[in-house]
Amino acid sequence: MKEQALKELLNSLTWEEKIGQLVQLSGDFFHADQLAVGPQKKLGIDQRIVDQVGSVLNVTGAEKTKEIQDRHMAKSRHKIPLLFMADIIYGYRTIFPIPLGLGATWNPDLIESAYQQTAEEAKAAGAHVTFAPMVDLVRDARWGRTLESTGEDPVLNAAFAKAMVTGLQKDLLNGGGIASCVKHFAAYGAAEGGREYNTVDMSERRLRQEYLPAYKAAVDAGCQLVMTSFNTYDGMPVTGNQFLLKEILRKEWGFDGVIISDYAAIQELIAHGVAADDREAAKLAIEATTDIDMKTPCYAKELEPLIENGEISTELVDRSVYRVLKLKNDLGLFEDPYRGASQALEEQAFLTEEKRRLAKKVSAESVVLLQNRNQVLPLAPNKEKVLLVGPYGDNQELIGLWAVHGQREDVVTIKKGFENYLDSDHLLYTQGCDMLEDYAFLGEFGATKDQIEQLGLDEQMKATELETALALAQQADTIVFALGEHTMQSGEAGSRTDITLPKIQQVFLQKMVELKKKTVLIVISGRPLVLTKEIEQVDAILQAWFPGTEGGNALADIVFGQTNPSGRLSMSFPYSVGQLPLYYSEFKTGRPLTSPTHKGRFVSKYLDSPNEPLFSFGFGLSYSKVEYSELTLNSEYMNESLTISVTVKNRSDRSAQETVQLYIQDVTGSVVRPIKELKAFQKVDLRADEEKKVTFHLTRADLKFYTKEMLFEEEPGKFIVFVGPNVKETLEATFDLK
Ligand code: BGC
Repeated sequence: MKEQALKELLNSLTWEEKIGQLVQLSGDFFHADQLAVGPQKKLGIDQRIVDQVGSVLNVTGAEKTKEIQDRHMAKSRHKIPLLFMADIIYGYRTIFPIPLGLGATWNPDLIESAYQQTAEEAKAAGAHVTFAPMVDLVRDARWGRTLESTGEDPVLNAAFAKAMVTGLQKDLLNGGGIASCVKHFAAYGAAEGGREYNTVDMSERRLRQEYLPAYKAAVDAGCQLVMTSFNTYDGMPVTGNQFLLKEILRKEWGFDGVIISDYAAIQELIAHGVAADDREAAKLAIEATTDIDMKTPCYAKELEPLIENGEISTELVDRSVYRVLKLKNDLGLFEDPYRGASQALEEQAFLTEEKRRLAKKVSAESVVLLQNRNQVLPLAPNKEKVLLVGPYGDNQELIGLWAVHGQREDVVTIKKGFENYLDSDHLLYTQGCDMLEDYAFLGEFGATKDQIEQLGLDEQMKATELETALALAQQADTIVFALGEHTMQSGEAGSRTDITLPKIQQVFLQKMVELKKKTVLIVISGRPLVLTKEIEQVDAILQAWFPGTEGGNALADIVFGQTNPSGRLSMSFPYSVGQLPLYYSEFKTGRPLTSPTHKGRFVSKYLDSPNEPLFSFGFGLSYSKVEYSELTLNSEYMNESLTISVTVKNRSDRSAQETVQLYIQDVTGSVVRPIKELKAFQKVDLRADEEKKVTFHLTRADLKFYTKEMLFEEEPGKFIVFVGPNVKETLEATFDLK
């Protein structure tokens, strides 16, 4: 439809029809004609409103979406199609690793392909919009949603944000891909104490410098929608926050796409205590240019009276409605309300060989080898007896909490992967121990008492499993433990203050390591866990996140040396929970701890813990030793740009992927600057014994920051450049910016 026709359509709508476009309801409102039950009653929404709504939340599947669309279109006076929006976060049917694992690949190009494949599956299944990527910067591992983020660094997160949006929206305006909704704008990851939905309060400087760049990268990459976050920023919940939504997002960044509230966030303005009732909540949200109200009656019921009373302008609402209609039009829904979705296409698109192959590659690149004492890894296939134990050893729960459309039965377990390398004489397996000591917390997520009682092992089975594991261990040369968090312990509303392995697994591990075998620990988790005890107990540790559909195959390839691990942490792993929040790019202090062994008292340090993380940002081992040398700057000065090169040499007889990282320090600024900031990285392939020169170009733009006057500028003076395999082990050189 041409712009003119779209404007005419807007003008021909009644207020009721217009406001309907600004309302999003979940699938339960659309499944039957006699709908006056349950959720509708609770929201106080009647069929008249349902018939006008503009979009549907979390319904997918070609058949289901078509049925709902057909029914809706038959009733729609102007034949305005519904938009189907859903949480398709790290895969639709083929599930990739959780985003914290994607961050560990340090490979945005690869992740762009993964999101392109995801969009292909999702589009076939009738989704028009995905609520992804989630690009919230995360520095506090207590927060369960670290699972959904690519990590703690603005530059790395921005690179992934761009890649994900680009992958999802490939060819969007010509019928390809699906529309991307970046979330949760803004700074949701900085919830105080890592407690879900809690307050965020930080300086504008930090917000702009560290928290906003990834959202901005998504907007610059053309994402069609932005979701507001649940948190407050500087005293105002984001859904009603004009500074963030109107000033920064709309005005400064020029974003003219759709802003959607997070789930019920408009009505939650009342609980926040900034609105007295639904009407005030609706007013605050629409005035901040929040276009769509997800799952509350505020807009549906209150926008019309607000217009009638002259409390809000008609133009304000018209602009929001137009943005929604424009999105529908840009996606071609007026011409084809299904956007090509069909069951036949689903069959062709889901879980193809190509997608599985890609999922395995992504999964392999996401795994981080944290420790490899005595080079116990890789194991030689069929040379020794391997005992695989632990609740994740033969478990299809490898896709994590937010893989809504993933199916457990598609998942390759770790045991299945091991069977590619070990015959039955060499592979021993038993579960060994339960996942959790107590499943009662699942009641909070809707499990009934009866269901909870069915979970886990009974006392008898627990004893038998332990006995079997100990007996099998006697026969084994190496024990591989597959341990980790329960799926429900991370993700939304998954904040924890104790982020160690579940107690029952810790006890089991301790008993087993007393047998003094070679030991490998595979950690499945949605966050960095505190592994301080485990690094002493086992020889090798592989951090595997929730590795997705192909997780078992990817892990087996690494354990048995087919793949050389290349993952690098995109989030620091704490030594103890007391260090949180924790991140490498700390500001300088007046009394820095210059050496970890410093003895004096009056410096910035803990009395009972190192300042350092257990595993640093950027850290990850491989089966090769890669040496760095000859850090060279093409000049001691920088005018417009600087070329920086370093030589990397693979001193091993196997090929490796090396992530070369470049950090800077701005030595003196008009405001305090971080000790190190990532500015660039390259993931390079190195054949056995190969040497390569890796070159970076640093520009003035890379040196910009928010100065004392809050200008985004670079300041002349001395800079240190650090290049290395992680933030800690770097070569250094200096230059002066003229
Ligand atoms: C989450 C969002 C999600 C939305 C819709 C909310 O609870 O915070 O990330 O997109 O629900 O399901």
